[in-house]
Amino acid sequence: MVTQTEMIYEGKAKRVYATNDPKLVIVDYKDDATAFDGKKRGTISGKGVVNNRMSNYMFGLLEKQGIPTHFVEELDTRRSLVRRVEIVKVEVIVRNIVAGSLSKRLGLPEGVVLKSPVLEFCYKNDELGDPMINEYHIFALELATKEEMQRITELAFKVNDFMVPFFEKMNIDLVDFKLEFGRFDGQIILADEISPDTCRFWDKTTKERLDKDRFRRDLGNVEGAYAEMLHRVLGE
Ligand code: TMP
Repeated sequence: MVTQTEMIYEGKAKRVYATNDPKLVIVDYKDDATAFDGKKRGTISGKGVVNNRMSNYMFGLLEKQGIPTHFVEELDTRRSLVRRVEIVKVEVIVRNIVAGSLSKRLGLPEGVVLKSPVLEFCYKNDELGDPMINEYHIFALELATKEEMQRITELAFKVNDFMVPFFEKMNIDLVDFKLEFGRFDGQIILADEISPDTCRFWDKTTKERLDKDRFRRDLGNVEGAYAEMLHRVLGE
C-alpha cells in the first residue's frame, strides 16, 4: 500500500507529498486561488475538489486516447496519486478562440474564432511572470530537447482534438487551455491538471464564462461556475 510521507512542494493551488514509493507522489488540491502571478489572492470554496475530480476524469479519458498522463488513482475528493515527474519548465497553451492575453497582444476582440489552433509556449517562471518564448529559447536554454518538443506538440494537439468535441457535447466552447508535461522513465507524459483553473470554458449559448476568469475579473458566482463545470463533465 502507498502511504503519504513528507510534503515536498507547496505551490499556489496544490501541495505535493512524497510517498513510500519513490516513483509516486500525492497531489493535494487547495481552494486557494491566485491570478496575475500571485498578485491577486483569494479562496474559491470547493475548487480543490472540482479540480481534482475533473482533472482525474479528463486524464482517464485521455489515457484511453493513447495520451500518457501522470494520473494513477484518486485517493479522496481532494487528493490523488500521480507519477513523480520532472516537470518541463515550459507551459503549453493551445487556443481555439481569441481571449485573454492573445486578445491584448494582437488587438483582437475576445470571441474571434481562430482559423486553426494556436500553440504557444511560456517559460514556467513565476518571478518573470511566465514570459512567452519560442522553441529557439527552449533549445538555447535547454528547457527541453527537440525530440521532447516534437512529442509535446503532438500530444498538445491530440489533447485539443479530443477535448474540443468532448466539451461541445456539453454545450461548452473550449476557448483555450494550458498544459504541463513531465519526464517519467525517459518518456514525456501529461502532468499538472485540466480544470477551470487552466482552461477557458464558455457556455456556447449564453457565452457565460465557466472558469477562473470569473475570479480573475471579479465576475461573481465563481464557486457556481466551478460546480457547474463539474456537473456538466461528471453529470453530478
Ligand atoms: P492567457 O490568455 O492569460 O495567456 O491564458 C491562456 C490560458 O492559459 C487560459 O486558459 C488560462 C491558462 N493559464 C494558466 O493555466 N495559468 C496561467 O498562469 C495563465 C497566465 C494562464
